[in-house]
Amino acid sequence: MNIKKYLKSNKALIEESMTGLMTGGKTLTDNLHRAMNYSLEAGGKRIRPILAIAACEAVGGESKKVMPAACALELIHTYSLIHDDLPAMDNDDFRRGKATCHIAFDEATAILAGDALLTAAFEILSRKALFTNIDPAVNIEVINDIARASGAGGMVGGQLADMEAEGSKSVDFPTLEFIHTHKTGALILAAIKVGAKLGGANKKELNALVKYGELIGLAFQIADDILDVTGNTETIGKDAGSDEARGKATYPSLLGLREAKLRAAELLEASIESLKEFDEKADPLREIARFIVNRKS
Ligand code: IPE
Ligand code: IPE
Ligand code: MG
Ligand code: MG
Ligand code: MG
Repeated sequence: MNIKKYLKSNKALIEESMTGLMTGGKTLTDNLHRAMNYSLEAGGKRIRPILAIAACEAVGGESKKVMPAACALELIHTYSLIHDDLPAMDNDDFRRGKATCHIAFDEATAILAGDALLTAAFEILSRKALFTNIDPAVNIEVINDIARASGAGGMVGGQLADMEAEGSKSVDFPTLEFIHTHKTGALILAAIKVGAKLGGANKKELNALVKYGELIGLAFQIADDILDVTGNTETIGKDAGSDEARGKATYPSLLGLREAKLRAAELLEASIESLKEFDEKADPLREIARFIVNRKS
């Protein structure tokens, strides 16, 4: 399979679907919607929704079924980026190749645009008309998975742990792993779970995909840490060197670049191994895992 083509075509489908879900055909002109759309349309890899689609396809599901939930995940992710960049958090000026939301607008608008994107995600997830061909019990389970992954026990909890570890010289390895598996791993794992469940995964398939999701979720943040050191601002579309400047707890800062790369490679190998019972329908997941670890942006 051609992973480049797969990522590109799914990204286009997701963006088209997201526009439809967000605008309802109307032109959005007010500042709040302008700020929300500014960050959404700035681009990004759309890797979480693509993972949801790929997980759905891996269990033989129809990718159309997963599209609204996939888009909801991208709205939550985009909100997390807007808040992550705020002066009170990472204080970054550059994101997805553009000025961050609070620079392009102002802090209050950026905070509220994030809040509104998060809320919009759950509005979409509970929009009845979008889930008519899905078992309501599965639909509720999916909403719960996404809520838990996004909140205090997931992304938000990880983000606070990340802030609390900032500047500390005594962060230990378990704390670092906690930060990464929560601030980033949780939402990535949720994307895979949700894709699998909406695709009709059986228990065995779901368990294997959860394993894959845990491994690749952690690998994703290690790769992000590595790119912060080795990447340049233009290619990564965000300020390189930001982690060191802020004294963030990262894999390269705790283990060194070489060990961090080794750890990412081990996680990649294990993630591919976790898919061993799947046929070629899981090839996109295998290739996405490679992409996550070897990417340049
Ligand atoms: C960046 O995520 C923030 C992390 C959780 C590491 P991505 O690397 O997926 O950012 P976009 O969506 O492609 O901009
Ligand atoms: C952020 O981690 C994770 C989120 C939940 C947004 P980082 O702070 O490392 O993400 P970047 O490098 O700014 O994208
Ligand atoms: Mg951060
Ligand atoms: Mg950041
Ligand atoms: Mg980073």
